[in-house]
Amino acid sequence: MIDWTGGEPGHNGRVALVTGAARGIGLGIAAWLICEGWQVVLSDLDRQRGSKVAKALGDNAWFIAMDVADEAQVSAGVSEVLGQFGRLDALVCNAAIANPHNQTLESLSLAQWNRVLAVNLSGPMLLAKHCAPYLRAHGGAIVNLASTRSRQSEPDTEAYAASKGGLVALTHALAMSLGPEIRVNAVSPGWIDARDPSQRRAEPLSDADHAQHPTGRVGTVEDVAAMVAWLLSRQAGFVTGQEFVVDGGMTRKMIYT
Ligand SMILES: NC(=O)c1ccc[n+]([C@@H]2O[C@H](COP(=O)([O-])OP(=O)(O)OC[C@H]3O[C@@H](n4cnc5c(N)ncnc54)[C@H](O)[C@@H]3O)[C@@H](O)[C@H]2O)c1
Repeated sequence: MIDWTGGEPGHNGRVALVTGAARGIGLGIAAWLICEGWQVVLSDLDRQRGSKVAKALGDNAWFIAMDVADEAQVSAGVSEVLGQFGRLDALVCNAAIANPHNQTLESLSLAQWNRVLAVNLSGPMLLAKHCAPYLRAHGGAIVNLASTRSRQSEPDTEAYAASKGGLVALTHALAMSLGPEIRVNAVSPGWIDARDPSQRRAEPLSDADHAQHPTGRVGTVEDVAAMVAWLLSRQAGFVTGQEFVVDGGMTRKMIYT
């Protein structure tokens, strides 16, 4: 169960680590959790941008640089979080090579395939491994960012699709291994416009982009952040090992040409 003790005014007393938080969905999740009173450690490969956005988020945001595919960096990063805060209540594995498109299968190199798998699938395993002892102490929770591409595909997306399918399976395996103290769930976004505001203004989405969705619009980082925050909350205390699709209904839409 989640420990609600230790809160100061404006804080819920809990600490979250969000990977890949220098931009996009990870940044949106970090900002949302801070609004809910969490202290958030943003982590990313991109040290310059990560430090800048953490500073902009204010006193309840910190930044640490980490390549999630490198076990030594993951171990050192988690130790740094514990050194700074003395506790960890939530892990959000969001960092990924997020472009789903690879070369054609015939020209896909083993090195490219291995790097996508290392970041998108081995990364969350390494983070869960090194965070588990601390999450266990406070009845913490893990949320992994998968994708609707774990269940449907376009051509030339083998590495990304396989990594996200693996991540959904890793999620339920972890839920069995780490329960009852730690809950583990996955969120699978559909099309989320995670671009910077300046990019969104420069290249706005078309009416058709929005209208094809049963919800009438493309998703936002807040749509995903709200689901992640709920899964980390005590309201989700009976929910583990699951995958939650946040896609405006696209995977439920029957499409025949
Ligand atoms: N945007 C979408 O439409 C969408 C849809 C489905 C799933 N997702 C998933 O949501 C998550 C966030 O997507 P996004 O669109 O915000 O991506 P993004 O590319 O905007 O951000 C990803 C972040 O991860 C960081 N990163 C990459 N490799 C890393 C590594 N080895 N170690 C640490 N950090 C690393 C990048 O520097 C970047 O800041 C990803 O897991 C992605 O697969 C996104």
